[in-house]
Amino acid sequence: MTLNNNIRVSHKRMTDYHGGMRLLLYVHLSCVLTSLLLFLWRGGMACAGQPLKKTWQRRYVPDLVDSLLFVSGAGMAWQLHLSPLTTQWFAIKLLLLMAYIGVAALVMWETLALPYKRIAFATALLLFFCIVTAASHISR
Ligand code: HEM
Repeated sequence: MTLNNNIRVSHKRMTDYHGGMRLLLYVHLSCVLTSLLLFLWRGGMACAGQPLKKTWQRRYVPDLVDSLLFVSGAGMAWQLHLSPLTTQWFAIKLLLLMAYIGVAALVMWETLALPYKRIAFATALLLFFCIVTAASHISR
């Protein structure tokens, strides 16, 4: 069903993709889930006033997952010839992503007061949900 030239309701299934593209989508979706779980854990602890200790795992594992998320997304965008200048859902997704990165960083900001951290945490989760919605419901 076409809404306009750029935004269409998605009917595509994972099985519509083959080879490298399907692999990238699997990697991307695995990273989406892992990234969300890590953020729920780290953000939840920060909002409870018990931030996780700064071990190398806590520092590098989320960075690694988020980098893989970005690289797999960029790889799919490359393969699908997507540009935020011509594809509206992709532009919306990238704008939401930038907002998410900024707000999620606030949650981890050590000197920020707890009530503000909690507001930032709730906002970041809402933005994450919006990114998933933009990617899966108004794409293609
Ligand atoms: C928090 C960050 C992100 C989340 C939660 C997210 C979520 C998703 C989800 C749920 C899908 C599956 C859509 C579907 O097939 O129904 C998807 C696909 C996709 N994502 Fe992401 N994504 C994120 C970051 C990125 C980034 C950084 C890029 C590019 C630089 C990107 C590019 C893509 C592309 C190109 C697709 C394939 C769309 C298609 O099949 O036509 N994503 N994303």
